[in-house]
Amino acid sequence: MKADSKKYLHGYTETEQNRLYKQARFIENKIYSTVDFSGNKHVLEVGSGVGAQTEILLRRFPELHLTCLEYEKEQIKRAKNFLSVLPYTSGRYNILQGNAMDMDFDSNSNFDGAFICWVLEHIPEPARVLSEIRRVLTPGSPVVITEVLNSTFFVEPYSPNVLNYWLKFNDLQYDMGGDPFVGAKLGNMLQSQGYRSIETETKTFHLDNRNPAKRADMIRFWTELLLSALPQLIEAKYVDEDLGEKVKQEMHLVSKDPNAVFFYSFIQAKAIT
Ligand SMILES: C[S@@+](CC[C@H](N)C(=O)[O-])C[C@H]1O[C@@H](n2cnc3c(N)ncnc32)[C@H](O)[C@@H]1O
Repeated sequence: MKADSKKYLHGYTETEQNRLYKQARFIENKIYSTVDFSGNKHVLEVGSGVGAQTEILLRRFPELHLTCLEYEKEQIKRAKNFLSVLPYTSGRYNILQGNAMDMDFDSNSNFDGAFICWVLEHIPEPARVLSEIRRVLTPGSPVVITEVLNSTFFVEPYSPNVLNYWLKFNDLQYDMGGDPFVGAKLGNMLQSQGYRSIETETKTFHLDNRNPAKRADMIRFWTELLLSALPQLIEAKYVDEDLGEKVKQEMHLVSKDPNAVFFYSFIQAKAIT
């Protein structure tokens, strides 16, 4: 069954917006450990959402100015409210409404870098976004893309309902025109769009008894992520309430298991325009 392609898998509710802030901070160190925009002046952030990554970029790279492109008005409103009260972001960003697949910028916009995080997975033609980024950036600029690879998710103890639900979650994302496995394809996509010096790095959360506190945080966070799509999944008839309940129960068991394991990998690609 095809879902409404205009909807966003996680929705734009306040709870979901709050989850984006939490997610950004929770994964911050993993994402940014190998990201360096300290030599850049004017970076384009594509799909900036509620400004969660914008805040991190401006905090980590004090010389940076960001132009943020986002197509959803509600996200932009929230991002502006959030960023406007942070002293270190003042005068260092502007947020524009637009479509990443068809940008309004021209090729001499003076962007000297681009950052894009958890966006291509929701876009029907991600290669067009990469093509647009390459068109509007100054030649020789770095691009950093962080994306999901949802087939890597695993939890111990074995949780068949969670895995079944995860399959449906990914089916819905696919049917909405997204791609929950896009991370694995970034190398090919960047190459086909003419980027140079392409590197991909697999970044992994492998949490077990060696770090129980982080594991507990992650299981809590992941349970929220799973359930964030539950209303949409039920509405689109991909799952029923019963499966939703079983997912809650199994994730609760995972959270209580003394030998629980959480595993998930995502992909970060870097390239030069
Ligand atoms: C999962 S959120 C990630 C937001 C932010 N990058 C972060 O990591 O917190 C994806 C965002 O991409 C935006 N988006 C999706 N397709 C887009 C498009 N074609 N053009 C611009 N923004 C888009 C959505 O509205 C949403 O705010």
